[in-house]
Amino acid sequence: MTDLLPAENIIPASGSHSAAQEITFTNARLVLPSTIVDGTLHAVEGKIASIDSGNSYTGLDCEGDYLIPGLVELHTDHLENHYNPRPSVFWNAVSAVQAHDGQIACAGITTVFDALRVGMDDDTDLTAGHMITMAKAIETAQEEDRLRAEHFIHLRCEVSAHNCIESFNMFEGDSRVRLASLMDHTPGQRQFTSYDALATYYKTKRGFNDEQLAEFIETYTKRAEKYSAPNRSYISKKAAEAGILLASHDDATQAHVEEAISQNVAVAEFPTTMEAAKASHNAGMAVLMGGPNVVRGYSHSGNIAAKELAEAGYLDVISSDYIPVSMLHAAFALDRVIDQISLPQAIRMISKTPAEAVGLTDRGALEVGRNADLVQVKLVGEVPIVRGVWRNGRRVA
Ligand SMILES: [Fe+2]
Repeated sequence: MTDLLPAENIIPASGSHSAAQEITFTNARLVLPSTIVDGTLHAVEGKIASIDSGNSYTGLDCEGDYLIPGLVELHTDHLENHYNPRPSVFWNAVSAVQAHDGQIACAGITTVFDALRVGMDDDTDLTAGHMITMAKAIETAQEEDRLRAEHFIHLRCEVSAHNCIESFNMFEGDSRVRLASLMDHTPGQRQFTSYDALATYYKTKRGFNDEQLAEFIETYTKRAEKYSAPNRSYISKKAAEAGILLASHDDATQAHVEEAISQNVAVAEFPTTMEAAKASHNAGMAVLMGGPNVVRGYSHSGNIAAKELAEAGYLDVISSDYIPVSMLHAAFALDRVIDQISLPQAIRMISKTPAEAVGLTDRGALEVGRNADLVQVKLVGEVPIVRGVWRNGRRVA
């Protein structure tokens, strides 16, 4: 029979994510908000208690790896892939949340905003009811301490859809909803500024011929004329009343940005032109682009490359978009390929800046007093390796 562990060595499996008492990381390359320090970080009761240069004789030896803040992800639609993995297949929602969470945590993300749709497109099996099922599963999984990361909800509101308001109101009173993005994917409006890119996308995705594409564009343009403006103003008003922050989405023109400013938008998601990104950044919004765009070097929709925005100084936040591991990969890529961006600056784009853009000032940086949300990272070649993840000082991956 194996000897029992002394009680103080047993990690508690309580109903809420408990903070570890004390933990020390030494021999680490500590990536602080504006510099890198080789040394030791000590955390007490889930908070960073001290940061010192030089090594300690005790604690976890990071073997010279980077120690960076836990990543803060504002826009991932990856949960859908786990819940609805094949047409007409719906997996147990709590199990789907756990599987998604595992992938998120192993990518170094300790705070995640799961994007759920409000206003349905025709290209999905998913309904407003499925979105509520996923939201409830996130809540249950969090309450039952099943999750490694902390999860919030980001409502992706397709304002051109007839059922946008009805679906939005189904989330009324859900305190996990902290962010709502106002989207309009009417063909030719924002996401695809070039007709050729739009035609390639829809012909490939939906198998349209020229005639079907023309009919599709006409139907959706009429729908947008009817719904987009009233839905946009209704949701921005209701979100402000409920304390939900707003994100603009796929802004392309100065007029789009001015509308966003008038609606007090905090985050400009995926601007499609340099003009819109510049105007959003200069107006104080956090300009967010996808990690896949940064890593691949171009946008899948034929729009502005995130790297061009980074070079011009208008990129503030990197999101995983549709590939969870892309956030960390993108930050190291920016440090490598853009001279004027240092590693601390690139890491801020995946931690401190997104956290603060949505009001989470208790995390996102290696600073005394902030949450001990930490990621040990080793860089081998161009692809970083996540070697350990801690949230509130407790190991989660
Ligand atoms: Fe979009």
